[in-house]
Amino acid sequence: MPRKELALLAVSVVSLLAGLWAALVLLGFHLPPLRPAFPADHAPLMVVGFLGTLIGLERAVSLRRPWTYLGPAATGLAALVLLAGLPGAPLFAALGGLGMTAIFVTLWRRTRAAHTAAMLLGALCFLGGNLLWLGGVPLAALVPWWIAFLLLTIAGERLELSRLVALTLADRAVFWAAAGLVTLGTVWSLLAPAGVRLAGAGLALLAGWLLTRDVARRTVRQAGVTRFIALGLLAGFCWLGVAGALLLAFGPYPPGLILDAQLHAFFLGFVLSMIFAHAPIVFPAVLRRPLPFAPRFYAHLALLHLSLLLRVGADLAGWPPGQYLGGVLNVVAVLAFLANTLWSVRRGRVVPREDSSRAEA
Ligand code: HEM
Repeated sequence: MPRKELALLAVSVVSLLAGLWAALVLLGFHLPPLRPAFPADHAPLMVVGFLGTLIGLERAVSLRRPWTYLGPAATGLAALVLLAGLPGAPLFAALGGLGMTAIFVTLWRRTRAAHTAAMLLGALCFLGGNLLWLGGVPLAALVPWWIAFLLLTIAGERLELSRLVALTLADRAVFWAAAGLVTLGTVWSLLAPAGVRLAGAGLALLAGWLLTRDVARRTVRQAGVTRFIALGLLAGFCWLGVAGALLLAFGPYPPGLILDAQLHAFFLGFVLSMIFAHAPIVFPAVLRRPLPFAPRFYAHLALLHLSLLLRVGADLAGWPPGQYLGGVLNVVAVLAFLANTLWSVRRGRVVPREDSSRAEA
């Protein structure tokens, strides 16, 4: 078992668990807040500590160069510093953003292609958002940068896999038009609220692109883990469309519970669905151990999407009890994902190698 990979994965999972704890406190669930400021750490724990470390780790493993581990180590440290209630988290996050950018510059130099360019743009948005955090900009103003980071990174990965589908010049132009709207809207959001609406239009356009061009449309007709991955991806793309439409329609600082719907349609519906779907590929690569697929994976995937439907529906209807119940069930879905993944990794020990999951993704 690779030690540094395991340590970074453990920090990422601890950040996720702490982020869930803070989420429950934000929802109004009766849990001790640990520290008075702890609930406000929910977003950085999730984006920097959990996702920043996981994405950086995945890339470091694939590049196999010791320095590439510095980026995820820095984002992991940012989360640990936050958890300990110490100062310095934004500085470590900015260093993590720098590390992530260096990784994608290396990848871009190796392969000068559209997908590496999209991912490099995503890393630059991560760096930009973390520098804004370091500069004292409020979280609400820098969240579009974190959205752009995750969206461009994931979209770049999907573009890489779209080599399995014949993309026309027009397809590529639409992809870049959407990525351009997201980037421009994100930068503009610092100066004018309308930037958020522009980024929302980019999200919606990219959702349409992914739903009609991604290889998942084809692989969903297969069986086993390939079908599971494709369903997770397609459901995530639909939520990306919802998030884009909500950002476009309501812009920043929306009334009532709409902000909750805008943010979590993206972060839970799109991003976590991608994580659930990619887990059977990412975890074996990082841990160098098989993660056999089991039909029970559908339980956490279905719970995530159904509970989010309840939450977003309640947000839009202005019904706080529904938002609360949906939010608590979102947390249960993430815990079920962790439990099913751990169960499967343990089972993978006794499963012969040829039975481990393989997927076209
Ligand atoms: C798993 C269940 C989750 C629950 C129950 C939850 C709950 C909440 C709540 C109640 C808020 C405050 C909303 C408001 O001010 O109207 C919030 C804010 C936020 N959440 Fe979540 N969340 C969850 C998962 C996530 C995930 C996975 C991410 C990111 C990957 C995320 C990112 C954010 C962000 C960026 C904010 C805005 C923070 C700010 O402006 O200070 N959440 N969340």
